[in-house]
Amino acid sequence: MTPNDFIRAKRDGRRHSPAELRWFVNALTDETIADYQATAWLMAAFLNGLDVDETSSLTLAMAESGAMLEFPTLGTVVDKHSTGGVGDAVTPLFIPIVAACGVPVVKMSGRGLGFTGGTLDKLESIPGFRGDLDPDELLAQAERIGCAWGGQTANHAPADKILYALRDATETVESLPLIAASIMSKKLAAGAGVIMLDVKCGNGAFMQTPQEAHDLALALVSIAGSAGRCARAFITDMNQPLATAVGNALELKAAFAELKSGMKGRLGRVVMALAEAACNEAGAQVSPRKAVDSGAAKDKLREWIEAQGGDERVVDDPSLLPSAPVTESVMIGARGFVTGIDCQAIGEVVRSLGAGRLSVNDVIDPSVGIEIFVELGDEVGESTRVFEVHAASEADAAQAVGELRKTITVSDDPVESPILVQPMEA
Ligand code: URA
Repeated sequence: MTPNDFIRAKRDGRRHSPAELRWFVNALTDETIADYQATAWLMAAFLNGLDVDETSSLTLAMAESGAMLEFPTLGTVVDKHSTGGVGDAVTPLFIPIVAACGVPVVKMSGRGLGFTGGTLDKLESIPGFRGDLDPDELLAQAERIGCAWGGQTANHAPADKILYALRDATETVESLPLIAASIMSKKLAAGAGVIMLDVKCGNGAFMQTPQEAHDLALALVSIAGSAGRCARAFITDMNQPLATAVGNALELKAAFAELKSGMKGRLGRVVMALAEAACNEAGAQVSPRKAVDSGAAKDKLREWIEAQGGDERVVDDPSLLPSAPVTESVMIGARGFVTGIDCQAIGEVVRSLGAGRLSVNDVIDPSVGIEIFVELGDEVGESTRVFEVHAASEADAAQAVGELRKTITVSDDPVESPILVQPMEA
């Protein structure tokens, strides 16, 4: 196989064999294929597609391009993945709740992409929290307390890092098989037997329509099946922020409050649906509801934060998390019902406040972001407070207030909220 043979095959709409795709992935990591050749193939794949078998073979080869984690001493290990959203603070609750049910959870996460926040940035807002556990440390911690979390290392599906950078620079990101292979290569390499997939759908997600979300969910589950792993997918609504706050420390505060108040809010209901499915698949003896109501999940949260070097007192005293020097309330200034929330625009405002990155080397500010006090369908009056902005300066706050006002639509008649969480139907 030469790079030209490989590119020509896909340009002409032919199907690749598993061996050809493995050759390509090896050529990427050995650097024996030039970037311009790899990107020519990416565009051919973007335009002509990859079928289910090609996608699975590409994914497995990408997963095996680096270390494949294994946890032989732990039994059935659970992992979860979110396709990215705004105010998506599911992971910091999912991990301790499932672990408190006696099911080991080992999870690796990346930083945020685009306007969506990343778990790594959120957890690193806890003073002392270490996200750089190596595979031996992950295993040892999970053996000891039942859960461990780490940021992705350089040797975690390195072929995905190469391909993602090339896709980003050549307008070939939005291809369903390439997205599915990218996500699942990292999940397969992370070693879990049960993978919970949270596919976000709506104006604050990469998948904006139910059909797109369903197609991606199906592709992800099918790749897991062909690699011998169990995966369950849920489509969750992202037409409004999931947590009652957006921004790193603010989302953690909102998540801790949700756990303490019984997991009944939007964030809590999504976490519980994923946790219940994970516990069913892994054969847990204790239910997530019992773990939450008994306080075991909160104890596990503290134990987990402490094990990762963080100050576990933040759970009971969120004032120990970073807080911004300037706060400003935003009133709605209209009467009626909230019929639209531009979730992506909110994500962009929060990123501009400094909570996310515009380029890879940007340093994020853990303290900034917004709290949000309304949901779709709420009845509001002129002076209803919609947002509280947390900013590093008066100027940043003023800029954010102006932008945030445009993100809420108020109308005379109410709309029905989209379904919050539903299992993917095959
Ligand atoms: N998330 C990923 O990990 N990869 C993609 O290609 C898109 C979203």
